[in-house]
Amino acid sequence: MKDFSGRIAVVTGGGSGIGRELVRLLVAEGCHVAIADVSPAGMAETERLCREDGMPQGTRIVSIVTDVSQEDQLEALREQVAREFGTDHVNLLINNAGIGAGASMFVSSREEWERTFSITFGGVYLGTRVFLPAVVASDEGWIVNVSSVNGFWATPGGGNPNSAYSTAKFAVKGFTESLLCDLRVNAPHVGCSLVMPGFIGTDIIANSYRISVGRDDAEAPSASELAVMRARIAKRGMDEAAMSDAQVLELETRMSDGYRMTAPTTAAEAAKIILDGVRAGEWRILVGEDAHELDAKVRANPEAAYDPDFFVLFGTPELVGQRAK
Ligand SMILES: NC(=O)c1ccc[n+]([C@@H]2O[C@H](COP(=O)([O-])OP(=O)(O)OC[C@H]3O[C@@H](n4cnc5c(N)ncnc54)[C@H](O)[C@@H]3O)[C@@H](O)[C@H]2O)c1
Repeated sequence: MKDFSGRIAVVTGGGSGIGRELVRLLVAEGCHVAIADVSPAGMAETERLCREDGMPQGTRIVSIVTDVSQEDQLEALREQVAREFGTDHVNLLINNAGIGAGASMFVSSREEWERTFSITFGGVYLGTRVFLPAVVASDEGWIVNVSSVNGFWATPGGGNPNSAYSTAKFAVKGFTESLLCDLRVNAPHVGCSLVMPGFIGTDIIANSYRISVGRDDAEAPSASELAVMRARIAKRGMDEAAMSDAQVLELETRMSDGYRMTAPTTAAEAAKIILDGVRAGEWRILVGEDAHELDAKVRANPEAAYDPDFFVLFGTPELVGQRAK
């Protein structure tokens, strides 16, 4: 797919981060886009930015509240997309929504682990299953599944676990590579891309904590969520007992902002790399220098990949600075 003008795209997780920047680039090119996200406020902001950027005449954008882990909601999304755009085909499906929670089989709750997996892998699998007939009905179609470097390396670095997220991202990788072979045999006019971003500057930390406990973005954190935040702060060696709830929330916001601000690649840069990869027909899209570096390192020495000093991808600026050579 060399250009997106006049095409129809569905972008999950388009209410923030990489998804939002993908929507902005597509709409600016004259692609009609349906955004699917659990956050109405996030989608409204994406729409506002698209209008501010300037939309080619006739370009349409719609926001549809959808939880991608729920098949019935994806089916309702497909029906609404068909109604809104007056056609039963979709050219470009971008399964981007995901959350990073459920890090440990020991420490994280089973609910958090399974919710993370059902969104981060389930959303990609179900999104593909529900929209496949619509993509195949296009003269030219493409499916983009967002995995991560955690789809081939199961830690954020320092030997720390990242259980549910990495399991889901490995599954996205296996599913997409298998889909590629399936499409080549059964629907050769449709292609797909597996996207593996490194560390990208987004609000994924704050969004993940909130969505993993099922909190709406208009609601305040519950007492049990505050307790989890306090435990996280204590784990970092800080005296959480001396902090008020307001200070806890402020610190959490600062940590989340720190993630966005210290990342080597912005969400806008990531979105451009992804769409350029699709235009070039690439099935394997690594995003960011860190992703390329890590991919080469894991391939060169897989046995050492989980040694604590192998590579530090995410973390504090200090940890990022200590990244092994
Ligand atoms: N930021 C990074 O460093 C990084 C690295 C590698 C991979 N990724 C992947 O990129 C994708 C986008 O992440 P991001 O960093 O832009 O995060 P983000 O939190 O900024 O955006 C994710 C969006 O997905 C939405 N979402 C979450 N659960 C949903 C659900 N059940 N149904 C529908 N929408 C849902 C959120 O509301 C949010 O708008 C994710 O799959 C993520 O795992 C991110």
